[in-house]
Amino acid sequence: MPFIVKHDNTVLYGVLDAVSGRGEGEWMADTPACQQHAQSVPETVAGAGRDSTVQGHTAPALTARAFVRDYMAFLLPRELNVLWTIGAMLVAVLVLMLLSGLTLALTYTPDATLAFSSVEALDRRVPFGWLLRSLHMMGATFFMAALYLHVFRGLCYGSYRAPRQGLWSVGTVLLILVMVTAFAGYVLPWGQMSYWGADVAGKAVGAIPLVGNLLERVFLGGDAPGTATLHRMFVLHFTLAFTIVGMVMLHVAVLHARGSTSPSGAAGHERARMLPFHPYFTVKDGLGVVVLAILFTLVMCFWPGLVTEAANYRPANPLHTPADIEPEWYFLPFYGMLQAVPSKFFGLLVSGGAVAVLLFVPWLDRGTPATFAAGRWGGLKWLPRLALAGLVGAFVVAGLAGRHHVQGGWLLAGRVATLVYYLYFLGFLPFYSRFARKEVRS
Ligand code: HEM
Repeated sequence: MPFIVKHDNTVLYGVLDAVSGRGEGEWMADTPACQQHAQSVPETVAGAGRDSTVQGHTAPALTARAFVRDYMAFLLPRELNVLWTIGAMLVAVLVLMLLSGLTLALTYTPDATLAFSSVEALDRRVPFGWLLRSLHMMGATFFMAALYLHVFRGLCYGSYRAPRQGLWSVGTVLLILVMVTAFAGYVLPWGQMSYWGADVAGKAVGAIPLVGNLLERVFLGGDAPGTATLHRMFVLHFTLAFTIVGMVMLHVAVLHARGSTSPSGAAGHERARMLPFHPYFTVKDGLGVVVLAILFTLVMCFWPGLVTEAANYRPANPLHTPADIEPEWYFLPFYGMLQAVPSKFFGLLVSGGAVAVLLFVPWLDRGTPATFAAGRWGGLKWLPRLALAGLVGAFVVAGLAGRHHVQGGWLLAGRVATLVYYLYFLGFLPFYSRFARKEVRS
């Protein structure tokens, strides 16, 4: 990571030291990129000076060329499968979200009396406004879907284990930031679901003992959702978008320091098992992004109803509570968990905890670097696979329960799903993984 290896980059050094959980400067000492540079970069890289400040390793100074060169030559395990292209898809959709979002912001008005009509005007009168808005709305859905798959990949292959705990933690913070940004964005068009979604969220925050009322007022900017809420959500949406970009850069930088997990469970980064990022993975990632773009276009043009909520095309009406208040599909599992618990406050804890628990995964799983996919956990490959299937099933059932407002049989289903979800992290991971046999392909 030579692009950040500068004498005066002490703050970034500190962050990387902290997230990598190692001593000062050690995060880069054994990186594949660093080792490769030590061997292969000629002394006279055009425009790149050299310094040798970190553990005797040489690193080119800050130049665009050195940056590109380092990332393109970065070595990755050759057996990375299709799930490893999702990171590139996430980056592509993030760029799309930023570009479309910035353009949408030019015509949006964060005022309770004008927000809905400003979005309508954008849809109907601004040239290609409908396209920009569709891209942004569809982008949110695809981003969240890709994010869930990305996390699933990490759980599947144990990518959170040492030495990638810091990488996983940065990822979880990203997940939380993206969720908050998506929620804030959904409030902005000021349709019926925007308004009542903000109302439900405000009441959920209000259920926190002692400080709840204060937090609710800070969140809403008054007693009920209104212009002040819109201003808050707009600022939050805008600023978090750029925070996410910074965090993604940190995420990728830490990945380059720690290297990628091998899906086969192979340990180490022997040169024979590695391929440079370019052209091998640029082509693979490029193909992934093209396939995603085709799928994206198909859904956007032919089945937009799959990911949009009809009620949000009606202007917010504080006097009419919709029969079915429900969030976007990607929040349904957490909404289901919120409703499955009889107390509002504990419901909030359980549903927030379902995301927060991811932060602790690297320390809950005490297994070996061997993977689920390779089925090397003590030879009992069906058990971890079954557990992971249970987790995915629980996530889906909690979402369905949320969709059915946790009524009738869905109440029981929602509760069981919540229990199974937590059992995976707090029961299965810590206890089963202790008995996992270390069996690493050499
Ligand atoms: C804005 C959201 C995110 C973006 C843009 C992003 C981007 C990336 C990229 C480009 C990679 C390398 C390619 C790949 O492995 O797919 C990667 C790897 C990784 N990400 Fe993310 N990521 C995001 C969120 C997350 C989240 C929420 C988590 C987990 C909680 C996470 C955990 C990881 C891990 C563990 C790796 C390394 C995988 C390995 O060992 O090979 N990321 N990410």
